[in-house]
Amino acid sequence: MREIREKALAKLNLSLDVTARREDGYHDMLMVMQTVSLCDDVRLRLRSDGVITVATDLRYLPCDERNIAWKAATAFFAATDRKNLGVDITIKKHIPVCAGMGGGSADGAAVLRGLNTAVGAPMNAMQLEELAATVGSDIPFCIRGGTALAEGRGEILTALPPLPDCHIVICKPRFSVSTPVLFAELDKNELRTHPDTPGMLDALQKGELTGVCRRLGNVFEDVLPTSRDDVDEVKRILTEHGALGCLMTGTGSAVYGIFDSTVKAFEAKARLLRRYREVFMAVPRAALSL
Ligand code: C5P
Repeated sequence: MREIREKALAKLNLSLDVTARREDGYHDMLMVMQTVSLCDDVRLRLRSDGVITVATDLRYLPCDERNIAWKAATAFFAATDRKNLGVDITIKKHIPVCAGMGGGSADGAAVLRGLNTAVGAPMNAMQLEELAATVGSDIPFCIRGGTALAEGRGEILTALPPLPDCHIVICKPRFSVSTPVLFAELDKNELRTHPDTPGMLDALQKGELTGVCRRLGNVFEDVLPTSRDDVDEVKRILTEHGALGCLMTGTGSAVYGIFDSTVKAFEAKARLLRRYREVFMAVPRAALSL
């Protein structure tokens, strides 16, 4: 059978605020999300025996029902009543794992998009996003990407004007923090500051990169355990090399800096590579047309 290839693009949070704890155990979010060019490669080959397999080039990632790609395929076949179909999913990982860059969610979204194409597009974009929300909170954004405001669990999306052209240097320190653990930390602490989301939206509307960079903010930075030192160190290096702004994305631990100069971005990357193994360059990406 024909192989379908999908790029699974990573996301960064330009801002991340948590506005309430909900009855269902989740939290209400207010986030400005941005798709970037760093991506995993996802390949799909349909099978006619109802079996789903997942293979990745990272040996420590689970390839069974714990993998979001596997969950996405199961959800798609159930929702479209094609339980006799199966799929072999092969994922080449480039997005760092446990980084707050939505790597697993991007893979899940790529599986949903690819399967939809493979079987003749029975679902439109909105239906695909609704299905995505049942698999994970960040997956609806990854279906379409671009620049968007995400509310509710993260699944209520409003498209925003694009982030102005820039270069982004991303560094993943060695430590990782589990997402549920960091949400629990938030619940124990009174948040002292919140990101200026209206100001961020205004800067995007005006196409002002410096205005966006001044308003980067993430409430999870304030509840990090001692490993916060690494985040501060990466930010210090990025700032020293001319970043207009820097932030930890999602629940971390990746930290990024935004540059208006390619040369400065390359210099920052080279400097970070002396100390950290996982350092990447990326550019913003627009929304996909489905
Ligand atoms: O939806 P997803 O499986 O990505 O969420 C992972 C975990 O993150 C949830 O089990 C929950 O602990 C936490 N979460 C939350 N509020 C959100 C999104 C995620 O508390 N809006």
